[in-house]
Amino acid sequence: MSSGSPRVLPAASGIAEAAAVLRTGGLVAFPTETVYGLGANALDARAAARIFEAKARPSFDPLITHLADAADLPGLVGAVPPAVAALVERFWPGPLTLIVDRPAVIPPIVTSGLATMAVRVPDEPSARALIAAAGVPVAAPSANRFGQLSPTRAEHVVAGLGDAVDVVLDGGPTRCGIESTIVDARGVRPVVLRLGALPVEALVEAVGPVDVRPGSSGQPVAPGTLAAHYAPRTPLRVGAAESAPADGGRRGFLAFREPPAAGAWAAVEVLSAEGDLTAAAARLFDALHRLDAAGLTEIVAEPVPDVGVGRAINDRLRRAAATWH
Ligand code: TXA
Ligand code: MG
Repeated sequence: MSSGSPRVLPAASGIAEAAAVLRTGGLVAFPTETVYGLGANALDARAAARIFEAKARPSFDPLITHLADAADLPGLVGAVPPAVAALVERFWPGPLTLIVDRPAVIPPIVTSGLATMAVRVPDEPSARALIAAAGVPVAAPSANRFGQLSPTRAEHVVAGLGDAVDVVLDGGPTRCGIESTIVDARGVRPVVLRLGALPVEALVEAVGPVDVRPGSSGQPVAPGTLAAHYAPRTPLRVGAAESAPADGGRRGFLAFREPPAAGAWAAVEVLSAEGDLTAAAARLFDALHRLDAAGLTEIVAEPVPDVGVGRAINDRLRRAAATWH
């Protein structure tokens, strides 16, 4: 891990400086509505290579390209299939990543050699202003080291990446708190490759039936769907408060709406006392970062109702647990 600290600039006033860093091949972490991204000029293979280095990310895990405006898509990739265009029209800017053919101007390192490219327009004004000011598409994975918890605050980025990133734009906590939904809508029926902040139900309402196949492929088409991912350093398992063994360790509990009625918990985080799944998603990674910093021997995480964005929350918890079991 890097020892030094990056320059942290307020998102409101640091756009021009951060855009200049992007244009000259540097790395800028910036807030989106989902999680913080680690951005580089997507037209510059060397800049993109620095992302993989900073994250210790395997080269087989492709990046998402971010645009300032949906109107910029045809200029970059040409015509897109009607179903993709319909989703762009309905959900951009927003937490939906779409799969398109990789245009020749995007170097293969960005897509890990795939003939396809993931692309989205974030629904966060400072992110769009940054990309527009840079004047280039911006490749950006989540701004965490590979396999670890995603960052929903600038502090998480600084703690995780240190000065491996040149500039961090601080826009406060992110609104959705969980990554974008990834959809391949090039075929007959759209396929959800990663559950995310845009609920499957919203997709179905807009375009009809979809297939949900996160991680069904042996070859990791979307490694955010690798069985083990999004993991704290503390061993995590999914379970109910009552099922916890009565051993002597310092254990923490991640609750959906109520703290556990009994049990010796050294730390407890409640995602949403109102039982609101959107609010729970917004707090998920922040709560896990806090539990991870509490010197615990184990984190027990309670599953949430498996509807709407709750499906993406449960997906992240399962993958975090898969690292340990
Ligand atoms: O919300 C988000 O999507 C955040 C913010 C920063 O935009 N980004 C993000 O990036 O979550 P990352 O790198 O952590 O996850 C990107 C996912 C990976 O699972 C990757 O495998 C998948 O997108 N992906 C990228 N290109 C792909 C492609 N051509 N086909 C299928 N999956 C792709
Ligand atoms: Mg990620």
